[in-house]
Amino acid sequence: MRSDLLMFKHDKHIERNVNAREHTWGEAFEHLAVGVAQFNLDGRLLTANGQLCEIIGRSKRDLLEKHLNELFLLEGSWPKCKAGLDRLIAGEVPCYSTDMSAVRADGRVVWVNTVFSLVHDDVTNMPRSLTAVVNDITLLKQAAQNLHDAEVARDDLSRRMMNAQDADRTRIARELHDDIGQSLAVLKVQMLRAGKPVSGHPEQTHASLKELAVKLDKIINKVNSISHGLHSAALELLGLAVAVRSHCRECSEQLGIPVHCSCAEPQEKLDSMIALAFLRVLQEGLHNVVKHSHATSIAVRLTSSAGYVGLEICDDGVGFDVDVASLAAGLGLISMRERIHLVGGEFEIWSSPERGTRITARAPIIQATLPTEPNEPRPPAINLTPDPDPRESRNP
Ligand SMILES: Nc1ncnc2c1ncn2[C@@H]1O[C@H](COP(=O)(O)OP(=O)(O)OP(=O)(O)O)[C@@H](O)[C@H]1O
Ligand SMILES: [Mg+2]
Repeated sequence: MRSDLLMFKHDKHIERNVNAREHTWGEAFEHLAVGVAQFNLDGRLLTANGQLCEIIGRSKRDLLEKHLNELFLLEGSWPKCKAGLDRLIAGEVPCYSTDMSAVRADGRVVWVNTVFSLVHDDVTNMPRSLTAVVNDITLLKQAAQNLHDAEVARDDLSRRMMNAQDADRTRIARELHDDIGQSLAVLKVQMLRAGKPVSGHPEQTHASLKELAVKLDKIINKVNSISHGLHSAALELLGLAVAVRSHCRECSEQLGIPVHCSCAEPQEKLDSMIALAFLRVLQEGLHNVVKHSHATSIAVRLTSSAGYVGLEICDDGVGFDVDVASLAAGLGLISMRERIHLVGGEFEIWSSPERGTRITARAPIIQATLPTEPNEPRPPAINLTPDPDPRESRNP
C-alpha cells in the first residue's frame, strides 16, 4: 500500500515535470518568428503559436480542433500529403515537408511551406503528435508565378516574332516572284520585239527601247524599295540624319501629307547598332501612322545632346489606348521598345483616342570603336551626318 502511494507520487511528479517542460516550450514557441503548430496523429490542430495565427490571419480559437484539410489547401492532393505523414509516423522518414496555401479571414491567399516532424511519448516512445514548422513563402510563390508568367509571355513573343519573320519572307518572295519576276519576264519579251512591226498591223510598231527604259526604271525603283526595307544603304553610307530625312520624304510622298522633319546637327559618331535601332523605330512609327492614325500632319525630330540621341514622332491622328494596344496581336510597338532597350535606351508612347500620338526614343550615344580582332571586324560606325538646314526641314 505504501509502495503504491510512493509510485503514485512519483508518477505525479513526472507528470508535473512534463507539463512544466511543455509549458516552457509552449511559451518559447509562442514568440517565435515562424509559425509552429502541434497536430494529433489524425491531423487535427492541438495548439498553434501566435505567428501561425498571424500568417493564416485567424484567431487561435478559430483554428483549434480544425483538421489540416480545413486549414490549408494542399499543393498536391490530401491523399499524397497523408501518405507522406503516414511514412513519417511509421518512422520511414525523419520529416515531411509540403507547400500549402490558406485563405485568410481578409480574403488574401497566403502560401506556406510546412515541415512536419514526429513527437514521441517520453515514457512509451510511441508516436504521440506531429509538430509543424510553418514558413510564409507567399512572396516566393508570387515571384515564381511572375517568373512563369514572364516566361510564357517571352515564349509567346518569340513565337509571334518567328511568325512575323516567316510572313516577311513570304511577302518578299511573293514580291520578287509575282511582281518583279513577272515584270522582268514581260520586259524581256518586249525588248526582243522593240521597234518591230506588230504582226497583222504593219503600220504599228512595238514599244521602242527608249519607252521600255521607263518601265525598267519602275522595276529598278521597286527593287530599291524592297532592298531599302531590308537594309538601308543610306544609313550605312550617309548616316542616320540623312536616312531619317530620306525616309520622311518618301513617306510624305506616299501619303500626300506633310512630314515635318527636323534633324539636329550632332557631333558624335554613332554606333551602327544604335543608328539601325533608331531607323527601324522611325520606319515602324511612320508605318503605324500611315496604317492606323488618319493623321493630317506628322512631325519627326532627331536630336542629339549631352551624349544622348533622341527621336520623336508626333501625329495629329485618331490616337489609341496604349494599354489596350499592348494586349493586341501587333508586334510593331513591342519591337520598337525592344530595339531601343537593347541599345540601353528608353522608349515611351503618349496617346489617347482623338488626341494624336507621340512616341519618343532616347539612347546613350556609344562611341564607335575600332575592331579589335582583325578577322572579326565590327560593322562600320555611322556618322550622324550634318543636316544642311539644322533648324528644321520640311518634306512636302
Ligand atoms: N500612330 C498611331 N495612331 C493610331 N493608332 C496606333 C498608332 N500606332 C499604333 N496604333 C495602335 O496600336 C496598335 C498596335 O500597333 P503595332 O504596331 O504594335 O501593331 P500593328 O501595327 O497592328 O501590327 P504590326 O506592326 O505587327 O504589323 C495598332 O493596331 C493600332 O491600333
Ligand atoms: Mg505596326
